[in-house]
This record gives sequence, structure tokens and C-alpha cells, in this order.
Amino acid sequence: MKKLLISSVCLACFVFSVRASASAAGAPLYKNSKASPRERAADLLGRMTVEEKLGQLQQLDGFSEGGYREEHLKMAREGRLGSTLNVRFAGNVNKLQKEAVEHSRLGIPLLFAFDVIHGYRTIFPIPLAEAAQWKPELAEKSAAAAAAEAYAAGLKWTFAPMVDIARDPRWGRIAEGAGEDPYLGAAMAAARVRGFQGDDFAAPGKVMACVKHWAGYGAAEAGRDYNSTDISQTSLRNIYYPPFKAAAAAGAATVMSAFNDLNGVPSSANKSTIDGVLRGDWKFDGFVVSDYTSVQELLAHGLAEDGEDAALKALRAGVDMEMVSTLYRDKIPAALSGKKISLTTLDRSVRRVLEAKFRAGIFEDPYIDPKLETTALKTPRALELAEEAALKSLVLLKNEGGLLPLDPAVKKVAVIGVLAGSRADMLGSWFADGKPEDADTLLEGVRAMVSSGTIVVYSSGCPVNGGTDEDLEKAAAAASGADVIIVAAGESAEMSGEAASRAFLSLPGRQLELLERLKKTGKPVVVVLFNGRPLELGWLDANVPAILEAWYPGVRGGRAVARTIFGLENPGGKLPVTFPRTLGQVPLYYNHRSTGRPPSPSEKYTSRYIDSPTEPLYPFGYGLSYSSFALSGLSLSSGEITPDGAVKVSVDIANLSSRAGDEVVQLYIRDAAGSETRPVRELKGFKRVTLAPGEKKMLEFELGPAELGYYYSGGFAVEPGVFKIYVSTSSAGGLEAVLRVSAR
Ligand code: BGC
Repeated sequence: MKKLLISSVCLACFVFSVRASASAAGAPLYKNSKASPRERAADLLGRMTVEEKLGQLQQLDGFSEGGYREEHLKMAREGRLGSTLNVRFAGNVNKLQKEAVEHSRLGIPLLFAFDVIHGYRTIFPIPLAEAAQWKPELAEKSAAAAAAEAYAAGLKWTFAPMVDIARDPRWGRIAEGAGEDPYLGAAMAAARVRGFQGDDFAAPGKVMACVKHWAGYGAAEAGRDYNSTDISQTSLRNIYYPPFKAAAAAGAATVMSAFNDLNGVPSSANKSTIDGVLRGDWKFDGFVVSDYTSVQELLAHGLAEDGEDAALKALRAGVDMEMVSTLYRDKIPAALSGKKISLTTLDRSVRRVLEAKFRAGIFEDPYIDPKLETTALKTPRALELAEEAALKSLVLLKNEGGLLPLDPAVKKVAVIGVLAGSRADMLGSWFADGKPEDADTLLEGVRAMVSSGTIVVYSSGCPVNGGTDEDLEKAAAAASGADVIIVAAGESAEMSGEAASRAFLSLPGRQLELLERLKKTGKPVVVVLFNGRPLELGWLDANVPAILEAWYPGVRGGRAVARTIFGLENPGGKLPVTFPRTLGQVPLYYNHRSTGRPPSPSEKYTSRYIDSPTEPLYPFGYGLSYSSFALSGLSLSSGEITPDGAVKVSVDIANLSSRAGDEVVQLYIRDAAGSETRPVRELKGFKRVTLAPGEKKMLEFELGPAELGYYYSGGFAVEPGVFKIYVSTSSAGGLEAVLRVSAR
């Protein structure tokens, strides 16, 4: 239990502990910390008025700077507020909490929530970049570091992880998730939940996770945020649900219902997904919070006639807490009197929220020690981890002629591009309480890396989304005398994330023109990309010898990129999402089904374009290294198994180069024929390994029913037949073997 160190709340602590100890001597059961959360919630529920119950289901927004609104104090005192978002920092949290804990009738503490997506103060790479690490154990560590910092600011709940599968790069929120693949997505989702919550989220330094956005939000039509989705049941079960299922299995305390209309029923009133799948099939026993005003939005969707109808539909569907809109609070009392909803339905949701609060330990430990704000943020360990995370998330897309790594003793380097000098853009979207001044830039990184005799010239070139002829001239002039040109290109941070859908995937503004000018100098060009989504990189791929994808790499991104460019580190990340050649190919993802006429460049009447190849520019799972690796010796422990059996897949990976490096070995299957058609490839295992020069390792994977089976309209099954097994270093190519599954 935390110790209170501020005088204004010391008294509170005393009063509270007196009450708590009184409970042991026959006071209300809910105050007895030895009783189970379920028993305590049931006891407390029995003491509450309808108004107090609805209070627990209400979450209200504070100010983005961390303050609460004046009316929150009164509401907390009257037991009419259950939770806030954005309110943070010990001063604010303890003051508001005191109203709830010490001055309300039943003393139910508030839950303080915030979007801690990829770090709280120490900002890590965006989640899409962390997925490019293919190292869930590292994402678990960064989530744990984020939780510790968030907790220090008085928070006990983060709206993360965001686990939406996204196959459309137009959607700005693709940056917040783990990309397009359910298997990688599930591994990342579970890791992040473990990181935020630990074994017991009541522990100091841990926060409750909120898995979002349930369900199918990533399939927003045309990549336009908040747009409707239409997804078949088999796609939901096989593609969109697995990360949620993995997060729920990892013990996620809460889930957020999404904004999107899913097959005609908005997610925030979707009983079949919330009560049916989440609670029914998966036995999720936490609570569900709506997304921001998504209960109110049921009106705009055309699902609800009026506010009461919206409140009833959401509550009946199993949305327990309402974020920001106030329809439960305003409309449910009359609906109860009119017998339009039962008290049992209301109590069910209140009990879930109370149970979570008991499990979170906030009845015993409601306040935050203000000292933590100075001791727990930006610790050396967190910063070190941020650097490691940035390093591991870099993906080398092209390296013609081994241009990279550069020699630190190069005579003159030109660093070009406004993103090379920008701290704020390194943080990406949703950077919580991250501060631009904490971030280092690529330019600083380069300056720190080169030899003392190297001349570094910088020109910001053109703004990300604009620029004049003069900007281009200046940049070209700066670059002309250099031996090598490093260009930072991409999108500014606010071009990704929520409400940042794009109708173009090209480099914004005049960046391509800038690159054309720089190419004309005849000097070698290295492009470092800062962006939150796959971009159209066809021109770059054809014209620039080296391209490094750096995403938004967080506070230590600048130095991580520079260390990699100059060869102190070796890139080993892999794309967690397909990079199309052109927007017209979208949606484009590796795990698509086949067609009756698979594309053939020489056959007109096949599934192809007349004006573009069908293949992506860079496939899912792709990424280069300064080392070169070779796979060999793929073998299966058995060529034939029964549907309930398992097979071991082993393969050798060797580092053929004289440089240590990482390779991500990927295992895919193809179920050749099923009662429903199956994807051409599905990821079912991966391992990121570090190999010393010349080192060879044997890796083993296991394929059993969980990997070989799939959901079809009749349920989940491993269907007898032929399975192709691929082991590769991207979703294309690799070694192949055949497995036969025979009926028992
Ligand atoms: C977003 C959520 C977020 C919530 C609270 C919404 O607009 O969709 O992802 O958690 O706001 O900030």
C-alpha cells in the first residue's frame, strides 16, 4: 500500500484506514479487504441508490492538461461519478479522489484513466513500429515501463492496447495497432496486457488495460475513420477477433466498445459481440466501457430513436460504462420506472465496474504519492528501453550496393528534411505526457555519430506538407557538396492516429520533388522514413539506393536511427503490414484468399490490374539486414498427423556474413483445401534471433490444432487434407514442406 506524503490527504488516509479497520470489526463487508471482489461488490451494490449506481457507470472527461472540471468535485461527493479520463497528476487526482473517498456516502473511489498508448512520459515507438520488432517480450517491457510512469501520475487505467487488425493504410489508426496479421497481433496484444497489468494490477506501478476497439473497427470502409464495417463471421473469427481473444485470455481488465457500425449494428450496442462472443464464448469477466460518446452516437448511426433508446440499447448489449455522453445517467431512471429495463440489467453492469475497482485495489489504496512524479518518470532504465525499442523497430527496406552502413569518417554529410530536425514528430500520435524536448532528433544523432573531422550540413528542405521552389533550391545547394545525403521524409506526426485518414499514400507536399532534386546531385541518397502507415514508395524504391523505415520512433529515435545508419547497430525489424505499390491496390494483405484465376502477368483473364503489378512493393514480414542469412534443412517431425495431433517443424538459420545481426524466421501454413476457402498463407509462428558472424542455429516450431484449425460456419476445426508449410524470412518465398492431416 502506498504511503501518503501530502498533508492535505494524510487526514484522508487516516480516516480511511480507521474505516477500513472498523470493517474488520463488523463494518460493511465491502470494506473488508479480505473478502473477495465479488462478495464486496455484491455487498456494496445492495447499499446503493439508483443514482449512485448510475454514477459508477459514468466516465467524464477532464481537461487535456490534466485538470478536472469544477462540477466533477460535486459529482464525486454525491457519488455520481465513477471514473474520469485525462485527469491526472497527484494534485488533481488526490483532490478529486478525496471527494469520492471521504465525502461521498459510500466512499467509492474513482478510476482515473488516460490514453497511455506507447509510453506515458518516456515515449516509445508507436505500436505499429513495436510490432515491426517481432519481439513481443520487448513490447511487454515497454508497456510495463509506461504503466509505471502512468501510475506515478495517479492513473490506474489505460485505454490500451489498441489491437485492431488493419488492412487499409488510409486509416490513420493503423499506427496504433500491430498491423494486419492476427497471429502477430495476438502475440503483441497479450504481451502488452501483461506489461500494463503484470500478474496483479492492484500492485503499485501497474494499471488496468483496456483492449480496444471492440469490434472490427480496423475494417472501416475506405479507410475513413469512424466509418461502417461489414465483415463476415468467418473473417471476424479468424482475422479480427484473435488479438482480442488473446488479450482477454491474458486477463485484460476491460474492453472498449468501438465507434463503428458492424454489419448493421453499431459496436456500442452490439449484443452479439459483447454479451455473445466476449462474455459468452470467451468468459471475459471484466467490464466494457464505451468509446468517447459512442452511446450518444447511436442516434447518428440511426440505431436509436432518442437518448433513452440509445441508453437502453447500449446497456442491454452489455456496455457497462458510458464514456463522456450522459445518457445512462439521464435516461435510465425513467426507463427503470417505466419498466423498460430491469434493475438486474443495471446491477449487472454496476457489479462489474465495482468488482474491477476492488480488484484494482483502489479501495485500499486510492491516492498517489506525489513524490513519484519526480522519481518515477524518465528513469535511465526507461530511456534505455526506449532506445532498444527504437533500434529493434527499424526496418531496412532497401540497401543497394551495401550503401549502408555509412562510414562515420565520411568527409561531408548533408542532412535534409524538416523531420530530421523535429523533436515533436518523433513522438508520433497519442504521446500521452511525452514532451518534444525529451526527444532527440536524427540531426543530433548524426552529429553525435560522425567523426570529429566530418562536416555535417543541414537544410530543412520543404515543410512536410508544402514548400516553395526556394526551399527545394536551398536543400539541393546544401546537399551538392556532400559525400552522402541523408533525407528524412514521411509524414508529420499528426497525419497518423485518430481522425487522420488519408486519401493518398504518397509522400505529402513536395517531398518527392525534393528527392528528385537531390537525386540529380548524383550523390548517394539515404532516405529515413518517419511515418505511421505504409506509404507509396515506388519512386523511392526505383531511384534511391537506401531506405530505412523508422516509423515514429519515440524519444530515443534520433540516436537509434543514427547508430544504425553508421553501423553501430544492425537493423532487423520486419514489416507488420504490407506496403502496396499504389493506392489502387488497397486493401492489400498477404493472407488473402486465392481466386479461381490467380494473377498471371501473361494471362489477361486473371485477377490482375492492366496498369500495375498485383504484388506489393514490400510484403508483410519483409525487412533487410546488414548481415545475410540463409535458411536450410526444413524438416517435419512427421509428414502425417491426425486433426488432434501436432507436428514439430525444424529449420536451420545461418548468418553468412561477418557481422552479427537479427533475423526473424517466420512459419506460415496454407491449408490447401477446406470446407471454406483458406488464405494463401497464414503466419503461425515466428522467432527473432541474433546470430554472430558465421553462426548457425536450429529453430523449432510446433503446429497443433490451434494453428492448423480455423473457424468456418460450422465451428472451429482442423480439416483433414494437405497443408503446405513455409519457413521464410518474409511472407513471400522461403522453404516449403507438405503436411498431411488424415481423418482419425
Ligand atoms: C478513441 C479511443 C480513446 C478515447 C479516449 C476516442 O476518440 O477512439 O481510442 O481511448 O477517445 O481518449
